[in-house]
Amino acid sequence: MIETAPVGDTPMIDPAGAPHPPPGMPRAAAPAAPAASPGAGLDVRGLNAYYGTFRAIRDVTLRIPERAVTAIIGPSGCGKSTFLRSLNRMHELAPDARVTGSVELLGVDVYDPAVDPVQLRRVVGMVFQRPNPFPTMSIFDNVAAGLRLTGHHSRQELEAVVEQSLQRAALWDEVKDKLKSNGTSLSGGQQQRLCIARALAVDPQVILMDEPASALDPIATLRIEELISELRANYTIVIVTHNMQQASRISDRTAFFTMGEDRAGYLVEFNDTVKVFTNPVHQLTEDYVSGRFG
Ligand SMILES: Nc1ncnc2c1ncn2[C@@H]1O[C@H](COP(=O)(O)OP(=O)(O)OP(=O)(O)O)[C@@H](O)[C@H]1O
Ligand SMILES: [Mg+2]
Repeated sequence: MIETAPVGDTPMIDPAGAPHPPPGMPRAAAPAAPAASPGAGLDVRGLNAYYGTFRAIRDVTLRIPERAVTAIIGPSGCGKSTFLRSLNRMHELAPDARVTGSVELLGVDVYDPAVDPVQLRRVVGMVFQRPNPFPTMSIFDNVAAGLRLTGHHSRQELEAVVEQSLQRAALWDEVKDKLKSNGTSLSGGQQQRLCIARALAVDPQVILMDEPASALDPIATLRIEELISELRANYTIVIVTHNMQQASRISDRTAFFTMGEDRAGYLVEFNDTVKVFTNPVHQLTEDYVSGRFG
């Protein structure tokens, strides 16, 4: 069951200011939702996330800025992945999982019952720790998969979006001559960029990344970090990382989570990345970023 904060008007999340809501989304009463430039922020208020009776996230309030990279850091088990999955309603896919509080995107609480979670997950896409291309599909079809689900697209349209998404994911030059090969035939780093291209193809506002480079070698990691730096111009990116250097290299803002005696994760500090790493406000943050704890 999902508990939500009440909201007033008809909800709608309309990526890129599209003239009509995407399939599955409720139609807004005029005027339409704000014509969004890509890369909207997220307003998280009083968020709690539970697995059954266990509270994994306690009362998190923060504003994730648009078109910037926000890093989530903290010790293992403090709820970083749970927090990330709460932002696009993937958390509720776990048995007995529920959330209280609100996550607002483009003026809509994503937990409003009228929001279609499948559509939401296109607008707030996710990239996981281990690259997970669809195993039986070609490179082309992996990128086109989400678009094909959203309706009718001509071959020409699909080709254009696939090329553009692979370009944006910095993979096009490496795969343009073998688009029919299986997605799993690529290297780990290429597969991760393929998964990023797949997320980009459906025109997201936000991309959530849960330790996207932790399974990759240093060179592939660097490619992903460069890519994240490029994508920040047009997308809102939230990245969980255990790698402090990575957080300080690529993020604009950093949120430090830890957990209390009840093991519930909570937000200790959310600030400009430079401040978190050089002059944090809280002792707990200082201890963590200096390696004294966690
Ligand atoms: N599906 C689940 N069912 C029950 N409890 C879960 C589930 N997933 C996570 N938890 C618990 O929720 C808490 C937070 O887990 P989470 O995976 O969010 O932590 P994390 O900060 O991402 O850890 P790590 O850094 O190791 O990836 C932990 O106590 C974990 O055991
Ligand atoms: Mg995790």
